[in-house]
Amino acid sequence: MRVILMGAPGAGKGTQAERLVEALKIPHIATGDIFRAAVKEGTELGNKAKSYMDAGKLVPDEIVIGIVKERLMKPDCKQGFLLDGFPRTVSQAEALDENLKDRPIDYAVYIDADFDDLVERISGRRICSKCGKSYHVKFNPPDVRGVCDDDGGDLYQRDDDNEETAKERLEVYNEQTSPLIKYYEDKGLLKRVNGSQDPNGVYKEILNVLGVQEG
Ligand code: AP5
Ligand code: MG
Repeated sequence: MRVILMGAPGAGKGTQAERLVEALKIPHIATGDIFRAAVKEGTELGNKAKSYMDAGKLVPDEIVIGIVKERLMKPDCKQGFLLDGFPRTVSQAEALDENLKDRPIDYAVYIDADFDDLVERISGRRICSKCGKSYHVKFNPPDVRGVCDDDGGDLYQRDDDNEETAKERLEVYNEQTSPLIKYYEDKGLLKRVNGSQDPNGVYKEILNVLGVQEG
């Protein structure tokens, strides 16, 4: 199955993707995660991406498209994949279509969450510095404050989750990414799910629109 997971910053793409890829046994391709890993490693890509990410802006299309094209050529994508955070502009979507000519996208799942929920989710998100597991101070708190349940790693806040950058990310989303809702609607691929319910409810709704039985 070839799936795109769409939604504004904080809508719950990463949270849902984690469970979905385990159930569907397909790789999770998250461009944001790829860039964050590159920044951490201090690679040339990371250095290029960092200034855009810190400003809440999109990394230029030509950089992102090249990375995703390369990733989709890997053998583990033969049985399908789940894209999280890509495409994010109409140019990226067109490049993806062109690249996937003989194996087109099956579904574009749009996690539709209320604006107020987005802001609260972004500001309360915490990440484990060791394993990258995501928490929320209110909605998904760790057993011990500031510490990962799985490996005891310290939890930190993403650099772009501060108020100013988050605001910019939401604006960029409205301007540059939200047109993709219509793009995939016109192709008959869009599946809208209610993102303003608890994560388990969102998960069940996604499985339902994908026609997958739970369990
Ligand atoms: P990216 O990493 O993709 O960030 P984003 O799109 O802003 O989305 P987030 O990761 O913030 O949110 P999410 O939807 O994954 O929510 P999550 O599940 O974590 O991109 C970062 C940057 O990289 C971009 O700004 C850009 O610079 C660059 N970039 C990436 N891709 C690019 C591209 N294609 N083109 C150009 N540039 C690109 O949930 C958030 C919080 O809420 C968590 O704490 C979670 O526990 C909680 N939560 C989740 N679901 C629920 C729920 N149902 N109820 C209550 N709490 C919930
Ligand atoms: Mg994410």
